[in-house]
Amino acid sequence: MVARLQQVGRHFPATPSNLELPPVRVAVTGAAGQIGAFLVNFIAQGRMFGPYQKVILQLIELPVAEKVLQGLIMELNDGAYSLVHEIIGTTDSDVGFKDADVCVLVGARPRGPGMERSDLLSANAKIFEAQGKSIDKVAKKTVKVLVVGNPANTNALIASHFAPSIPKQNFTALTRLDQNRAISLIAEKTGAAVDEIRNIHIWGNHSATQYPDTFHASVKGKDLREVVGDTKWLDTDYISKVQKRGAEIIAVMGKSSAASAANAACDHVHDWWFGTQPGKYASMAVISDGNSYGVPEGVMFSFPCEIFPGGEWRVIDGLSINEFARERLTKTGAELLEERKMALGF
Ligand code: NAD
Ligand code: LMR
Repeated sequence: MVARLQQVGRHFPATPSNLELPPVRVAVTGAAGQIGAFLVNFIAQGRMFGPYQKVILQLIELPVAEKVLQGLIMELNDGAYSLVHEIIGTTDSDVGFKDADVCVLVGARPRGPGMERSDLLSANAKIFEAQGKSIDKVAKKTVKVLVVGNPANTNALIASHFAPSIPKQNFTALTRLDQNRAISLIAEKTGAAVDEIRNIHIWGNHSATQYPDTFHASVKGKDLREVVGDTKWLDTDYISKVQKRGAEIIAVMGKSSAASAANAACDHVHDWWFGTQPGKYASMAVISDGNSYGVPEGVMFSFPCEIFPGGEWRVIDGLSINEFARERLTKTGAELLEERKMALGF
């Protein structure tokens, strides 16, 4: 495929504080889609890499969406964003991923009403195979990849599988939206501010089997489950609401979440870039090494992670897993094994 769109944005004077930092090259696929359009504007505003970090936006689309991409770039230019060093729009993934520091893989088909995310596997698997190969070929070997397109966990596994020269730890999938949803519901229930709620962990698949775990969480420093005082709700309706929030949005809007997904992608990469705050963990789907919480090896499983500045992460260890949680971890792990079998045949 030939890169037919190649537009370079304006250059703006740097301020003394950001002059020394080289621009971050961030590639976004599906940039002209509904998530992509929010996402690239959020990045341009500093939501992903902070207010002093310049970026080179490398925006990748299908030829069918080339015009929309062109319009998006015109609007980005009209935003006169001081953090945007350059914009490259392209329909060639080898151009778009070239030397990328971060790739956010959004471009994929979304589900419609009545579908499960895994129903998208056959339509979307090929996309992530091709993109994995392209990232392997042209991106930096230190590239950090976040997969948003569904089914996100297994698509991340596919991309990683086809990018053997890049460490598997550099591929992740988005479950931060689920974490944000889980926090927001508790804020609504308790009246606490979202910042006062910590460490609700999302385990497993970004699907209806995911497990939002409140057993290690706090509200204003106190045990979340005691503050909420409604165990039945926490263990039934609350879990189900988080698991099915994506479908609920589709039922109401007729299309899937967009701004909240883009916002969560910024949260995810921001924490991956700068590190998590002490004692505050981030849920993200990462490659399982088979040594944590009985989770099968070699699937992209969402765990609570501590992330160090520079991007190295570790799964938080030593959390107690009761019978209730164990059952749910097993179920979501089995689903990921099933998806892996469908996608990669093992
Ligand atoms: P959309 O249809 O509005 O946009 C998708 C864009 O991707 C389109 O512009 C399309 O042209 C482009 N595209 C498709 N294949 C491509 C390819 N091979 N290379 C480059 N671009 C390509 O969809 P959307 O609402 O933005 O959703 C995108 C994906 O994100 C869907 O799979 C959706 O289910 C998923 N999603 C995930 C989460 C999450 O939390 N993980 C949340 C919301 C949506
Ligand atoms: C979401 O959680 O909103 C997305 O994964 C879209 C979907 O299909 O539910």
